[in-house]
Formats: sequence, structure tokens, C-alpha cells
Amino acid sequence: MIERKSVNLVSRPNGPPTLENFELVTSSLDEIKDGEILLETKYLSLDPYMRGRMNADKSYAPPVPVGGIMEGECVAEIIDSKNPNFENGEIVAARIGWVTHAISDGIELRKVNQQLAPISTALGVLGMPGHTAWTGLNVIGKAQPGETVVISAATGAVGSLAGQLAKAKGMRVVGVAGGAEKCAFAKSELGYDECFDHKLAADATELRKWLSDAVPKGIDVYFENVGGKTTEAVLPLMNEFGRVSVCGMIAWYSGIGVNDAIRLPAAWRAILTKRLQVRGFIVWDHNDVFDQFFSDTAPLVQSNQITYRETITDGIENAPQAFLDLLDGKNFGKQLVKVS
Ligand SMILES: NC(=O)c1ccc[n+]([C@@H]2O[C@H](COP(=O)([O-])OP(=O)(O)OC[C@H]3O[C@@H](n4cnc5c(N)ncnc54)[C@H](OP(=O)(O)O)[C@@H]3O)[C@@H](O)[C@H]2O)c1
Repeated sequence: MIERKSVNLVSRPNGPPTLENFELVTSSLDEIKDGEILLETKYLSLDPYMRGRMNADKSYAPPVPVGGIMEGECVAEIIDSKNPNFENGEIVAARIGWVTHAISDGIELRKVNQQLAPISTALGVLGMPGHTAWTGLNVIGKAQPGETVVISAATGAVGSLAGQLAKAKGMRVVGVAGGAEKCAFAKSELGYDECFDHKLAADATELRKWLSDAVPKGIDVYFENVGGKTTEAVLPLMNEFGRVSVCGMIAWYSGIGVNDAIRLPAAWRAILTKRLQVRGFIVWDHNDVFDQFFSDTAPLVQSNQITYRETITDGIENAPQAFLDLLDGKNFGKQLVKVS
């Protein structure tokens, strides 16, 4: 019998979530049966989409039920196996939630090559966020050498890879991030040509003024991660036939600022008059390009041509606070929890 800890959702937030919405629960797992494996979590990934799962309404995925374990992906070690396809000591990426241990039948697990890069990267630059960056830039944004791209949440898990891939393609790359340290990192480490601090801009008009000086040829691709005043600043600067890759809108996830948000007619007008292609995407609809993303990106990570940054919080009991911090922009790069 294994004692397992989990973080469960015990109430739904009304606005920004709080620690009271979560509870650390201890339970026990049965012995594994034939065909099963026992997993011990090494790292838990915290991601902005989890905020949506805390709401009662279904969006593109069902909500976490009240009382249920928070949803999420982990990298975990196999510590017991009665499945011929898995051996003790192997590392896998698995959607087992905010837990220290789990039993799996082995379906939908992704084996992690421990020789390639630190195993935590399977949740970041070489995992779902990396896949999202690659897809948003290439498949949705149809980014081309010589074009200009603006990327919001520029130093985050998704944005930091999108920026580096765009630079490697020969694009002009302009970021928007929160704070001087993140903006400096974007330019010195990630290769952004410019990066602007959205926190310093009084409003969308001021941010647009800064951006317009940095994009003398206009914007061909906007990699949208945040919504809010950044979207409002960017849209009028888009070139005709530009592409907006709508990946996320974290500024609005807890309902803050939605009433001050860009008016629909203004956005619609920009889309019409500039003949923009605005396309939302959910990464799991693009599993067909995962292998291409991985074979493009893994060698660049291995040879340090692509860099990445992680914020690692210790202990599953601290996952709720780390998640609130992520929604507040306190993470720098990929937010992880070291579980064991
Ligand atoms: N469509 C998909 O399939 C898919 C997959 C993965 C992620 N996403 C989305 O992609 C976006 C980035 O995800 P990530 O995992 O890479 O997270 P992340 O960028 O590592 O972390 C979230 C960042 O969002 C920024 N942020 C938070 N509140 C903000 C606000 N009010 N205004 C502007 N920026 C704010 C903060 O960065 P600053 O400090 O720089 O402001 C924060 O660090 C999210 O919107 C997420 O939902 C979508």
C-alpha cells in the first residue's frame, strides 16, 4: 500500500483563485495489478490552462469536479511495473494530475529520454509548451523569414521558445513581458530584438507607441498569449494579410479587466480592413506535428542553441501558491513543482 498525496479542488474561485480553493489530501493506493505500473512524480507542471479547469463551465475541456484532483502533467519514475512495456527506473510524462504517486495502465504515457536533456524539459521546452510554441509560430502563424513577429508573455514557457525559433528563422522579433528583468533576459538570452514592459505602459495607446517604433515594417505575425492591453496595442499595427496566432489570453482568465477590454467593433474592423487571419488553436489538435517539433527542437536544446529557464517550487504542498504566482506573472520561464 502506497500513501499518496494530492492537491484537490475544494471550491471554485470567483475571480482570482486563492489558497482556500485547494486542499492537500492523503489517500492510499492499492497494489498494482497485471498490466499496471506505479508512478512516483518527480516534477509537476503548472500551466495557465488549469485556471479554466477550476471553473464550472466546460470550455474546450471539462472542468475539474469539486473534490477532484487538480488536472496536470507530470514527469514520473516507474517504481513498480507489472506491464511488459515499462521497466522500473524509466521516466515517463503522464497526465496524472497534482499527485505524488499514481497507478497507470501505460496508455498515453510518453517515455522520456534521460540522456537527451534534464527530465524537467519534458514538461517545458521539449514538452507541451514547446510543442505549443512551435505550432503557434509555424502552423498557425505561418511565420516566414524576414517578417516581423510580436510575442506576448515573451519569456514564459511558450513565449521563450517561440521567440528563439522566430529569431532562428530570420525574423524581426519583438516581445512584451512583465518587468525590466524579463525584458533584459528576452534581449540578452533569447535574442529578441526588442522587448517592452507592459507594466510600465499606462494604457494600450502608450504600449502601441513603443511597439510602433520597434516594428518599422509593421507586424506580420502576432503570437497572442495574454489578451488585455497588449492585444489592443498590437492589432492596429498588424500588416495587411497578417496572422494572429491565438494561443492564450491569461490576462482575462480570472475575469479581471474584461469590461475595459478592447471593443469588439475595433477588433473586428482591424480584422476586416487588414484582412487578418485570426486563428485560435489548442495544442492537442496538432499532435500530428509533435515529432516534427521534437526533432527540430531537441538537438537545439541539446547543443545549447536554444536556452530555457525554469522556476522550480519545492514540495507538492506548495503547488497552490506556485500556481497563484504563475497567474500573477511571478514565474520566470517554465513553472514546475519538484515533488520528489
Ligand atoms: N492554446 C494552447 O494549446 C496553449 C498551450 C499552452 C499554453 N497556452 C497559453 O499560452 C500562454 C502562455 O502560457 P505559458 O505556459 O507559457 O505561461 P507563462 O508565459 O510561462 O506564464 C504566464 C505568464 O503570463 C503573463 N501574464 C500573467 N498575467 C498577465 C497579464 N494580466 N497581462 C499580461 N501578461 C500576463 C506573465 O508574464 P509577464 O510577467 O511577462 O507578464 C506570466 O509569467 C497562456 O495564455 C496559456 O494559457 C495555450
